[in-house]
Amino acid sequence: MKKIPVAVLGATGAVGQRFVQLLADHPWFDVVAVTGSERTVGRAYGEGVNWVIPGDPPPGIAELTVQATEPNLDAPVVFSALPTQDARELEPVFAGAGYAVITNASAHRMVDDVPLLIPEINPDHTALICRQQEARGWSGFIVASPNCSTTSIVLPMKVFQDTFGLHAAVITTMQAISGAGYPGVPSMAILDNVIPHIGGEDEKLENEPRKLLGRVVDHEIVLADLQLSAQANRVPVMDGHLASVSVKLDDPATPQQAVEVLETWEPPAICAELPSSPQRPLIYRHEEDRPQPRLDRDSEAGLAWTVGKVRRCNVLDLRYLAITHNTLRGAASGSVLNAELLVVQGLLKG
Ligand SMILES: NC(=O)c1ccc[n+]([C@@H]2O[C@H](COP(=O)([O-])OP(=O)(O)OC[C@H]3O[C@@H](n4cnc5c(N)ncnc54)[C@H](OP(=O)(O)O)[C@@H]3O)[C@@H](O)[C@H]2O)c1
Repeated sequence: MKKIPVAVLGATGAVGQRFVQLLADHPWFDVVAVTGSERTVGRAYGEGVNWVIPGDPPPGIAELTVQATEPNLDAPVVFSALPTQDARELEPVFAGAGYAVITNASAHRMVDDVPLLIPEINPDHTALICRQQEARGWSGFIVASPNCSTTSIVLPMKVFQDTFGLHAAVITTMQAISGAGYPGVPSMAILDNVIPHIGGEDEKLENEPRKLLGRVVDHEIVLADLQLSAQANRVPVMDGHLASVSVKLDDPATPQQAVEVLETWEPPAICAELPSSPQRPLIYRHEEDRPQPRLDRDSEAGLAWTVGKVRRCNVLDLRYLAITHNTLRGAASGSVLNAELLVVQGLLKG
């Protein structure tokens, strides 16, 4: 297959760098353009970027000149790692100009006709794309990835929803500092500390799972009927969002039954066709002190959900801990998987 030319918007940031690294050797996509703010436009990517992840800017992309974020890029597909406000203004301009916009930003996640997508959970939600294009007169479209903390909790919720029915969840997150981008939280605020506030995050955790776990009816999403209560916390961990979740089920289940359904869960068949799909998207750890950010965030190249400590909850029904890597599964790798899904579904072409 001829590679599809793609661009990365906001390529110099924490998530943009992950995109650049992941896409450098991708079998289906070829990075031909990168954009940045006024600070970096006109400079070679490798010189303008403040590279904060292991390794170096990939050769080939390092030599690209950073461009302004305008819809004159020579690629039909753009991966967006733009800050929220820029994404709110610019992503619709790109979609209107015919680009497929695969975004990590929060700006359009909860818009009715924008798919909020995780291939393992709701690949059928791409049915919204034709409605989005018709309603807005766009030849392009926007598809969004969920918030990185939403991602960490939602796969076990999906498994429980499908098996036992899910009625409510109480969520407490312990989120890594890379979730705030670079330079992010000042070191004097986060070292030796926990900050019990991340702007807008509680609301995202309470809204986005209802869309992800919702049903498509006549090209619209019927939100899942779920009651959710969330408290997000920033902790002094570099990468990996850990979450503690208690769930109320429709049908009672023992912890043993819950562990069994988690361990035997299979992703939708279409995931096997995506080149970045992990072998084991859901890993259950039986040790009493797992999952942990440092030990579990990189499993399956940062694409796995690691779940553990499923136990009876004395107030609701069951409780568990789950973790995903926030800039990989929760951001860039999740969006790359979304783009691969769109290719397989025939919605993305070169
Ligand atoms: N970090 C995470 O774990 C995570 C997870 C999920 C989603 N997200 C979302 O992903 C997006 C990026 O987050 P981040 O963590 O990468 O933030 P970040 O490290 O602050 O990076 C944002 C980058 O955007 C660039 N930029 C600013 N205005 C721009 C414009 N008009 N055009 C092009 N580039 C522009 C800046 O580039 P210069 O270097 O050129 O000045 C900056 O490097 C945000 O919407 C965030 O909410 C982040």
